[in-house]
Amino acid sequence: MTHILCKTSDIEDPGSKSFELKINRKLQSIFVVHKDAEFFAYYNQCPHTGANLEWQEDQFLDLDKALIQCATHDALFMIDSGECIAGPCAGDSLQALPLSINGDNVTLDI
Ligand code: FES
Repeated sequence: MTHILCKTSDIEDPGSKSFELKINRKLQSIFVVHKDAEFFAYYNQCPHTGANLEWQEDQFLDLDKALIQCATHDALFMIDSGECIAGPCAGDSLQALPLSINGDNVTLDI
């Protein structure tokens, strides 16, 4: 099933945005990161405790906007792979979602 999340221009580069949508009949929180003209989507769940990651609405990146940062214990994740490179869950990864760009729509195919 294809979900249109937003327009590519709705998320700054670099920037991030959260969405709520039903996946497998369950309402899930996910987020999309726009960085260097590429888009990446992950479940909004830190591998450390399962907590949501953002520190303010739609704010998933660190101050340099180079990494994804968990607001709870400051774990840092690669934007392109979701791998945790520092913090209590180092070596674990965020769970990625299949994102594609169709025209100027950001879409999720699940
Ligand atoms: S909940 Fe994310 S680092 Fe602890």
